[in-house]
Amino acid sequence: MRHIINVIVLIVVVTVGLLFLVNKIDWMPVAASTAAGPIDWLFGLNLDVITVLYVLVNGIMLYSVFAFRRKRGDDSEGAYFHSNTKLEISWIVIPTVVVLAFAVVGGSVLKQVSAADKDELKVIVTGRQWSWTFEYPDLGITTTELNLPINKQAHFLLHSEDVIHSFWVPQFRLKQDLVPGQEEELRITPTLRGSYQLMCAELCGTSHAYMVAPVNVLSAADFEIWRQKRLGIYKEPAGGGAGEDPAALGAKVASSAGCAACHSIDGSKLVGPSWKGLYGRTETMADGSTVTADDAYLHESIVNPGAKLVQGYADLMPKNYGDALTEQEIKGIIEYIKTLK
Ligand code: CUA
Repeated sequence: MRHIINVIVLIVVVTVGLLFLVNKIDWMPVAASTAAGPIDWLFGLNLDVITVLYVLVNGIMLYSVFAFRRKRGDDSEGAYFHSNTKLEISWIVIPTVVVLAFAVVGGSVLKQVSAADKDELKVIVTGRQWSWTFEYPDLGITTTELNLPINKQAHFLLHSEDVIHSFWVPQFRLKQDLVPGQEEELRITPTLRGSYQLMCAELCGTSHAYMVAPVNVLSAADFEIWRQKRLGIYKEPAGGGAGEDPAALGAKVASSAGCAACHSIDGSKLVGPSWKGLYGRTETMADGSTVTADDAYLHESIVNPGAKLVQGYADLMPKNYGDALTEQEIKGIIEYIKTLK
């Protein structure tokens, strides 16, 4: 009886202390979608229950190791037990009930976060080694950065061109694999304006870590301005500021559009030729001919990368940059390459 009281006191004290600590820690990044509420709640519930079970199992075990260890000079045999029906029933019933309860609660949260709104923005997401493209079929826009209006559900249709990738913006909480040959879907309603990062959460090859894309949650008005700019129908308000420096724009696009995953800027050889010292260089093509890397060649290599392939490199570059980048962005990249001497 003394041992039972000791172990109960030990477990209660440690559980209360650990629950306090576990709930003090801020485990999650900022919450930026409607899914964050129910998912963070479920995560917290999981953590609490796991904490209690962890202390229960380890508390009894560690207490027993100390309390029932062999005392000095005591060589007697321990008492002999054969099974304990009550204990066995309880360790079958309790975990079963806990797991079933979590299945029910988890199912209801899943239903909640995947519910479709009537008014949704369709976005076709394509992943490939190692970049992302976003197509807005209702807007006629294709881009390499994901812009979303706040408080409007985005309905993502996800495709992979090669291997399994995984669509993940931690601030939105939801994650969905892209499986080749299959269309996956995911619904997200952003609730917090800001800039986030989409990352690939499935190890997909050497440049997996570079398979990222910027995500911007914009106000409805800013999203409309972006839409008009992309379509080239935006009218600058009178007295509008000067345009961005092309090379600076190019540097930004190079990291957001996935260029940096395959083209180094320090001369090291990746999947594609390095951009360092590229402008003006004479390159030998796969067929032995030579080409000077001037504006026209760089432009062609961005929009039609297979046309003139540098010797020693495979035809791996995505073929859709002509659609996904604006003319201004392509010019920006070329200006950026010129600065990499
Ligand atoms: Cu795609 Cu990792």
